[in-house]
Amino acid sequence: MLISGSILSDKVSTKDAVKCMENANVDYLHIDVMDGKFVENKSYTIKEVMDLTKYTNKQLDIHLMVKNPLRYIDAFSMLNTAYITFHYEAVRNPDEIIDSIKNKGIKVGLSIKPKTNVNEIEKYLSKVDLILIMSVEPGKSGQSFMDSVIYKTEILKKLRDEKKYNFIINIDGGINNESFPKIKDNVDMVVSASYLLSGNAREKVESFKKCN
Ligand code: DX5
Ligand code: ZN
Repeated sequence: MLISGSILSDKVSTKDAVKCMENANVDYLHIDVMDGKFVENKSYTIKEVMDLTKYTNKQLDIHLMVKNPLRYIDAFSMLNTAYITFHYEAVRNPDEIIDSIKNKGIKVGLSIKPKTNVNEIEKYLSKVDLILIMSVEPGKSGQSFMDSVIYKTEILKKLRDEKKYNFIINIDGGINNESFPKIKDNVDMVVSASYLLSGNAREKVESFKKCN
């Protein structure tokens, strides 16, 4: 299991959150970029993300909750970025965004909100490296996991097996010791902010990792 530590929090400062994830031995640092348009909240300008990379050697897993992903791709591809994930619901032409991330040599993720069905993104499954299932409405940390998205992890895994696709399955929102067992057999990566930032992050990451 891969763990992507999200630093989005209204309780812990960005710097402390980055330190916490460093010490917890997460695989990636998950950066939630919000533009105040695709979602209500705003977070992390390009400059702020550049600044926070001074405190970490972790590879970045960037989650763009923005209407215009193209604006961010150049700058984020200059950082130590493993994945750039954008929202299917945010853009008119997902192929254009997929190609422009790939052209920078960065892995591409495609994310769907809780009410978006997997069949809507089926034509992109052969082209992306990661699918991010949102298990809360995107926009803030600290919300409860929605059981109603569990079936999507099962469908995606089945489709991947049948059609020999290469994407990994990631899930984001409300991941903790109670929700984790519900999805652990179907996903390759989990994102977590508030659960890890509330103490004993290292042990929690270890126990997630032990599961397979
Ligand atoms: C929500 C963000 C998440 C958020 C997760 O829109 O995409 O990455 O930080 O926070 P928790 O783990 O607290 O649900
Ligand atoms: Zn996120």
